[in-house]
Parts: sequence; structure tokens; C-alpha cells
Amino acid sequence: MYDLRGETVHFDVEHNRLLALDQTELPQKTVVLALRTREELFEAIQSLRVRGAPAIGVAAAIGLAVLANESCQTEIPAFCAEVRENAAYLKAARPTAVNLPWALGEMEKVLSNGAKTVEALKAALTSRALALHAADVEVCRKIGENGAPLLKNCRAVLTHCNAGRLAAVKYGTALAPIYTAKEQGHNIAVYADETRPLLQGARLTAYELHEAGIDVTVLCDSAASYVLGSGKVQAVLVGCDRVAANGDTANKVGTSGVAVLAQHYGIPFYVCAPFSTIDFSCASGAEIPIELRDDREIGTLWYQKKMLPDGVCALNPAFDVTSADLITAFITEKGVIEPKALAQYR
Ligand code: MRU
Repeated sequence: MYDLRGETVHFDVEHNRLLALDQTELPQKTVVLALRTREELFEAIQSLRVRGAPAIGVAAAIGLAVLANESCQTEIPAFCAEVRENAAYLKAARPTAVNLPWALGEMEKVLSNGAKTVEALKAALTSRALALHAADVEVCRKIGENGAPLLKNCRAVLTHCNAGRLAAVKYGTALAPIYTAKEQGHNIAVYADETRPLLQGARLTAYELHEAGIDVTVLCDSAASYVLGSGKVQAVLVGCDRVAANGDTANKVGTSGVAVLAQHYGIPFYVCAPFSTIDFSCASGAEIPIELRDDREIGTLWYQKKMLPDGVCALNPAFDVTSADLITAFITEKGVIEPKALAQYR
């Protein structure tokens, strides 16, 4: 078994490979993947072996460095063209989370650093990937610190999908304030929507919270109104895949429904958002590309047990957009920001 050092994705520089926890195997098995080729990297992101906006950004950045280190090109222009071609290929793995093109874009910036040799560029790409990896840990830690005070009167929160440590390098975004509160001696219980069709809530959020000793209860997505209306939770915390300049927010499909319910029941709805997930080039949620996935994810249970009658199609949007007016605030590494104030950070 490869050593991930407590992280979800890890750059094994010595052996030039990306190590990643295979999230499709959880919670039954802990399988660590060692990825080296661009096809392996693409498949791991596309099939959600590596998933969650920050994690796919960091994984792709490390993957690009791994591929660059393997390059046989000896001239700088040909080397840069190959790196850019690999970046374009990896960017196409999933369309909604902006962290993927953002992190690869950060890597591509290295190509214009004035390096005189291919070897120097390879070293700079490796350093940049390691820096993005380290920055993700720090950003999530700050989101935890900034979010925990908002929860001081909370006994429990509700979350949708998985925006915890499995969705980032460590800590996560939406679950970071829960981990920080626990470190400070405040145990907040979590109600986790199961998150159909791929069950990130049931399989992943429940797994990581249970492992961390945090009280977690899983509910069917359709039970969110029951839970929010029962007085059991005092806040909703979710992650995000892309925040538009006006605050509209794409996250796992079903999030916008939870936001509507939270407003109805007068419960604050917080989006935990690293700045790498804010896309100021998108004016509003209408411009955010929503990934449509294979309808077999709905029609069969993990492609095995058939659940729909023959001939019936399923519609499988992976994300939806929550309107900015339903969001109480964004919890970011730079502080807590109301949707209307987001534009000031442009
Ligand atoms: O399809 P997934 O599992 O990658 O969707 C993940 C989410 O929707 C998360 O909430 C989001 O990426 C934020 S992760 C910190």
C-alpha cells in the first residue's frame, strides 16, 4: 500500500507519480492509486476516483508535473507545447469545477518564467504543483478557522454531498469549520444528505466524519425538509464547484433545493469557498457549465443492479446553481463575505 501521509492526493516526487485515494471504493475498501499516464489521470478525475473541486485541481496540477517530468522533448518550445496540450486534455475531464482549469492555468504560467532549459522548467513545474498542494491545506485550515465562530450556537448542521477532507488535500471546505470546532472542544453533529445518485454523502461524508469521531447521521435527500423543519439543525454548510461574480454558486445537484428550504425555515445557508473556486469571469450562474453525466448512474446501482424499467431514460445533471440571494455568506480563507460584497474582491 502506498503512503498517502493522511492526504487525499499526494505528489510522490521521488517516484514521479500522483498518489490518490480511490473514492469509488470507499467506504468498503481503502485503495490508493499510483497514477502516471495522462489517460489514467483523466479517467481518475472523470470517473470520480478523485473528486471534489479542490482535490481535482491539485491532482491535475500534480499530474501535469508528472507528465512534464516524463517528457522526452529537449527544446523549450516543443516542451511547452506538450505541457499545454496535456493541460488542455486534463481540463476536459470535468466541466463544472473551476478549480480544474484554474490549477492547470497556474501551472501553465510557469512556462513563461524565463527558464533557460527544459530541466529548469521541469523543476519549476514540480515546485509549483507542490506549492498548490500546500496552499490547499492552508486555505482549508483558514476556512475552518473563519467558519467555526459562526457555529458557536449550533448543535448540528446539515450538509450536502462531500466537501470534507476527501474533497481536498486535507480538512476540506464545508467540513473544515466542524473539524476546527471539534479541536476547540465544541462537538457539532452533522446531518448528511445521502446525495443521489453517487452517494457522496452516505459513502464519503459519513465515512470521514465517523472516522474523525464526529456524530454523523445520513438522510435521504428527500428528507432534508423534514430535518430542516424539525429544529434539529441550526445552519447549512456546503462546498462549491464554481462561484460566479454575482455570487450564484454551482455545487452538487440538490444544493439549490436545500438552499430554498433553508430560507423557508429561516436557517443560515453558508457556502464554504476557497478563492480558487470563485470565477470572476463568469457574470452569473447562467454561464456556469453544468456537467451532464451518464444516465446509468441513476438507472443502475453502481452500474450493477438495474433500478429503472427498460426503455426509461434518466436525466443526470451532476450540479445545480444556487441563486446568490439564497446564500447567507461565503466562508473563505480571507474571511466571511456576503454575496453582495464578493465583487469587491475581483
Ligand atoms: O461530483 P463531485 O463529487 O466531485 O461533487 C463535489 C461537490 O459538489 C462538492 O461539494 C464540491 O466540489 C466542493 S468540494 C470542497
